[in-house]
Amino acid sequence: MKTYIWILAIAFLFISFAFTSSGKEKEGSSKISQVKDNVYPLILTQDPGDFYKKQCAFCHESEGLIAPDMKDIKKVYIEKFPNKPDFEKAMLEFVKHPTKEKALYKKGLDQYTLMPKMPFKEEDLKGVVEYIYTKI
Ligand code: HEC
Repeated sequence: MKTYIWILAIAFLFISFAFTSSGKEKEGSSKISQVKDNVYPLILTQDPGDFYKKQCAFCHESEGLIAPDMKDIKKVYIEKFPNKPDFEKAMLEFVKHPTKEKALYKKGLDQYTLMPKMPFKEEDLKGVVEYIYTKI
């Protein structure tokens, strides 16, 4: 484990060195992108795909270890709410405030505990339920 951390640390130093020395001629543009990367998460809602990967996939792409696979959940939602606005509304309501009564994927409740309520921003959740409807 310790060796692993050292390898990571050395790789990181090497990468940051490579970037500082090669970026001289386009210093202006790299500064802008640095600022953008730092400020982006604070002022804008996140890209829905990134948000899904960071906040949902850990549990919902865990080969069923922690939570049901999102594709299986989506199937049940699509069956009940084929059109996009209804689908998004129902899923948003559940994720904002999960309760057993709202849960549509009953098999999930038999196998797992109720999904915890997490303090997500409404805008991020709106983006992510649309992402699930269109891309998952
Ligand atoms: C800590 C783990 C965890 C995270 C993170 C998580 N979920 Fe869940 N989720 C669960 C579990 C466990 C269930 C199954 C039990 C249930 O239905 O509550 C579930 C169920 C669901 C369901 C099905 C509810 C139903 O109608 O039966 C939806 C939709 C859902 N999650 C969406 C999301 C979205 C969107 C995110 C990311 C913003 C997310 N979850 C993040 C654990 C998680």
